[in-house]
Amino acid sequence: MSVTYTQAIRGSFFDITAVVETPLQLPDYARYIEDGLLLLNGGDIVSLQSWEAGRHLLADRSSVLDYRGKLIVPGFVDTHIHYPQTEMIAAYGEQLLEWLQQYTFPVESQYHCPQHSARMSAFFLHQLLSNGTTTALVFGTVHPESVDALFSAADRLGMRLIAGKVMMDRNAPDYLTETPEQSYQQTRELIERWHNHGRLSYALTPRFAPTSSPELLGKVQQLKEEYPDTWLHTHLSENPQEIEWVKSLFPDHNGYLDVYHQYQLTGRRSVFAHCIHLDEEEWDCLHATGSAVAFCPTSNLFLGSGLFNLKTCWEKGVKMGMGTDVGAGTTFSMLQTLGEAYKVGQLQRYRLAACEAFYHATLGGARALDLDSRIGSFTAGKEADFVVLDPAVSALQQMRFANSKDIWEKLFVLMTLGDDRNIAATWVNGQCVWQARSEEKAA
Ligand code: GUN
Ligand code: ZN
Repeated sequence: MSVTYTQAIRGSFFDITAVVETPLQLPDYARYIEDGLLLLNGGDIVSLQSWEAGRHLLADRSSVLDYRGKLIVPGFVDTHIHYPQTEMIAAYGEQLLEWLQQYTFPVESQYHCPQHSARMSAFFLHQLLSNGTTTALVFGTVHPESVDALFSAADRLGMRLIAGKVMMDRNAPDYLTETPEQSYQQTRELIERWHNHGRLSYALTPRFAPTSSPELLGKVQQLKEEYPDTWLHTHLSENPQEIEWVKSLFPDHNGYLDVYHQYQLTGRRSVFAHCIHLDEEEWDCLHATGSAVAFCPTSNLFLGSGLFNLKTCWEKGVKMGMGTDVGAGTTFSMLQTLGEAYKVGQLQRYRLAACEAFYHATLGGARALDLDSRIGSFTAGKEADFVVLDPAVSALQQMRFANSKDIWEKLFVLMTLGDDRNIAATWVNGQCVWQARSEEKAA
């Protein structure tokens, strides 16, 4: 039997092969192949099987890329991040609303400048790739230039990326606000330019309810009706003062989520970041509308926002992905983000197993972004985005890895002790775009 392929890769592989409704199902769909063979055809996955079963398919054994000793997993999916906030990560002392005023808005003011936007886009994408993240849902700033720069850079790398310009028309400094009509026109132009361009997609990005007038939300709704296959990306129920503020700004609505829901901004491609303080009705509304949430543990802890309830999220059947939320989040590393998620679980007596954690960071995140038919596992026909992990790079990791009894313990050690040092290489669309100890090939 002959198979068409352009690249053969040998190594250990781990993925979760199906979307699940409860974490109890995860072990049934976890696939670990200690000595495996991945075949790619251009940017697509042809097959993943054991070396023994697949080696007869190889036309030329000498051309196999040998990653033995490494663990290869699907590329990480970051479901919530702000690229302009890269330069103010680790800003001291404030909780959400003061943090926005004091640190975030001044930094975001710089992105009217195409050169600054281009420089920071390149830096940001390098951070993602060197941390093994191959797809992200990204906030720009209010300036269209910010998004043009990011999409241009991601396009050159062949990354699957979803992004949008912030829409906001009140409760922010004048230098960052716009009229609803300007916001509509500029967003429309960006959608026409970038949505479905290669692997890029557009997300309508009203910052959050407090910076949105009813007129602006009406424009977002109009855009969603005109471009129904775009995404919707915003914040929801992150901080108690924020929630009270929303209630005072929108007294006719039945709570925070109801503001978005009444403008028909809930749905299968809607992603709400944080969702820490939801009531029962809000969880039910997220489920009923097929909306997704982004769990951002390092940000939620850093800003003192609260503890995301993963158990309720499963029970309510709400789609969830992991978000780093840089720059309120304190790392680009999905491994560190999973380690912090585990601790958030501990504080609520929820045991986040490694299998579940890696699911959220890969296929679960892909599902939250409505991309699970394209990315998130090594299923044949999917796009070839993956990370080559060096499982033990320090003396401590080597010692701990050596005395781990099985793949579950190894994955748990990796998410607890791991970080960007553990990323040996990152592949996007069938190309190696970043490698440790040498600068990335394609940025
Ligand atoms: N809510 C509104 N804007 C932001 C932001 O930039 N970061 C976070 N964490 N929450 C927000
Ligand atoms: Zn955010």
